[in-house]
Amino acid sequence: MVRVLLIVLASGCVLACDAPPSALGDAGDPRRGAEIAALGGGCGCHTPEAGPVGAGGVAIETPFGVFYASNITSDVTHGIGAWTDAELEGALRRGVLRDGSTEAPVMPYHLYAGMSDADIRDLIAWMRALPPADRENPPHEVWLPFPRLAFWGWKLLFAQPIVAPAVAPAAGVERGRYLVDHVSICGDCHTPRNVFGAPDTSRYLAGVIDGPIGDVPNITPDDAVGVGEWDEADMVALLQDGMLPDMDNIQGKMADVVEGIAEGPGYFDAPTADLEAIAAYLKTVTPLGQRRP
Ligand code: HEC
Repeated sequence: MVRVLLIVLASGCVLACDAPPSALGDAGDPRRGAEIAALGGGCGCHTPEAGPVGAGGVAIETPFGVFYASNITSDVTHGIGAWTDAELEGALRRGVLRDGSTEAPVMPYHLYAGMSDADIRDLIAWMRALPPADRENPPHEVWLPFPRLAFWGWKLLFAQPIVAPAVAPAAGVERGRYLVDHVSICGDCHTPRNVFGAPDTSRYLAGVIDGPIGDVPNITPDDAVGVGEWDEADMVALLQDGMLPDMDNIQGKMADVVEGIAEGPGYFDAPTADLEAIAAYLKTVTPLGQRRP
């Protein structure tokens, strides 16, 4: 059985093996990188509640084990201080670690795969500017027999082939789509997953009932169970102030990505025009009912 799986995976490699790293060119701009980090919800999985930003060690519980988000500060020993830009690009967009092994897809490299060269470059510059945190990465507690092989197989089977643009779309619905899918990764929480933990694209943004982080609402424009009755300004207000249309505050993991953790960036630090683009795009996605997986 395992042998058959290996043969299937190995032959798939001809089609899906890693593309060579793209040339990123000049050094990025850390100020623009902070905007990308804000649009990315502050990369908040990597920041412990008490800070410092990017120090890692935060436990992420999944059906496959407990994963610890790594230290992404400029610390040379425990962070990314000794990584090259090409290595960081590999980890962010292609799920490749420095030793060549495949990342656990808990790190949503398969979504960041579509992030533009320019945005990746600036995001890397932001990471390099994070003050070094002397905090060692705890080992993952994975409940799979051959975890790295499983992650490699997962990538082959489920990481969509995406060609990242050199520069992101500048405005409008296309920019909104780009941000939702590849930078702000709303679907990482709002799209349900199949039994392998891969996004169920037929239920795009339709919400999750009783998943690893509890219930996550449907954010498709369905009038009954989604956010069809919200107008674009309601969505911008949520992303900018954490305020729901009924004047309640948003809670839980959504509050983390909106507000940022430990004074780190969050959606509410992102440019208003970008939040408007996200709201405009969400109006165009297919309205879906919600159901238990
Ligand atoms: C880290 C996981 C995560 C990410 C990423 C995320 N969300 Fe959420 N979102 C949640 C959770 C959990 C809730 C429920 C919060 C609550 O119960 O107060 C939520 C709630 C919401 C709501 C409220 C819906 C309602 O009916 O009350 C909207 C709208 C929303 N998110 C939109 C977005 C958009 C747009 C993005 C991307 C820009 C996004 N979310 C990214 C986890 C996430």
